[in-house]
Amino acid sequence: MTKRRPGELPRAAVVGAGRMGHGIALELARGGYLVSIYDVQRGRARQAITEAEQDATDLIAAGVIEAADVENIVSRLEAVPSIQAAVDGVDVVFEAVAEDLDIKREVFAQLDQYARVDTLLLSNTSSIGITEIAGSCRYPERVALAHWILPPHLIPVVEVAPGEQTAESTIVEARNLLESLGKWPIVLRCELPGYLINRLQFALLREAMELVGQGVASATEIDRAVRGSIARRMPVLGLFGQADTAGLDVYQQIFRYLAPDLNRGTASPAVLDEAIQSGRTGATSGHGFYPWSPDDVSSTLHRRNAELIRLLRVDRFG
Ligand SMILES: NC(=O)c1ccc[n+]([C@@H]2O[C@H](COP(=O)([O-])OP(=O)(O)OC[C@H]3O[C@@H](n4cnc5c(N)ncnc54)[C@H](O)[C@@H]3O)[C@@H](O)[C@H]2O)c1
Repeated sequence: MTKRRPGELPRAAVVGAGRMGHGIALELARGGYLVSIYDVQRGRARQAITEAEQDATDLIAAGVIEAADVENIVSRLEAVPSIQAAVDGVDVVFEAVAEDLDIKREVFAQLDQYARVDTLLLSNTSSIGITEIAGSCRYPERVALAHWILPPHLIPVVEVAPGEQTAESTIVEARNLLESLGKWPIVLRCELPGYLINRLQFALLREAMELVGQGVASATEIDRAVRGSIARRMPVLGLFGQADTAGLDVYQQIFRYLAPDLNRGTASPAVLDEAIQSGRTGATSGHGFYPWSPDDVSSTLHRRNAELIRLLRVDRFG
């Protein structure tokens, strides 16, 4: 990274200002970065600043910032009209465009062309390999994964991973930057489809959808079972802490009996395909595994955020 004059703020860009981009931009601004935001959709980057300002109220509730800080933080966000303008002179770029390899490759080719050669280029991809994304870059050694989790301003973990050509220094800088923001970077040794969090999440979801498909239990019942059991322990124990405290010998016995029966399908689950074929694409369509009214969506997300805020307060204040 370049040397800055005393008092000069570090600079970052966020490219792609949808569900993820505005929260990432807020976290960077909170951490003292001047953030330029670019989105291919006209007006989207400006909208992202409004959304970031709204999200800041969650950070006040979590005790992360004071109400008096918000104006200053939001003043560090700027909507710009092109990728070239976004990356001009920045130390780091966080890409959060659509999950589509062709789009990401095109965006990274432009980032590679317009950014300084020492600018870190970090992708928020949920599943695509960094080596593929960086395939059109002249300097792939500065490209890595920085995978934030929705909603990025309230979830501490950010997964970091290298591609085949990523320099070790890129990973160190990405981790240091995220730590400086108070995030919990989890650094993987290599790239792999879905990285860590989505591999775990989708392993559980594959089994859950299979059980719905077999008629063993409904989606509502499975969610109730998860929320009232394993999800209650996870905030304290995670997975391996749970296994240790339950007794590894017991878990070995269960694995021996159960593992052959667990779903190992390689296609998307039938109940998911059926939902999509019948137009039930999730909360924004009004139907997914549940029926959703607009009020349901906003009240559910409100309750989710309230719980995430409570957990952030526990992290900070015990
Ligand atoms: N939504 C999630 O829960 C989640 C969680 C973690 C990671 N991600 C990843 O983050 C990325 C973004 O996801 P999202 O949910 O924010 O998507 P989104 O559709 O809400 O936002 C993507 C934004 O990228 C913009 N865009 C598309 N092509 C562009 C281009 N060429 N240049 C600039 N902007 C462009 C779109 O206009 C849109 O505003 C994806 O890679 C996704 O897999 C999503």
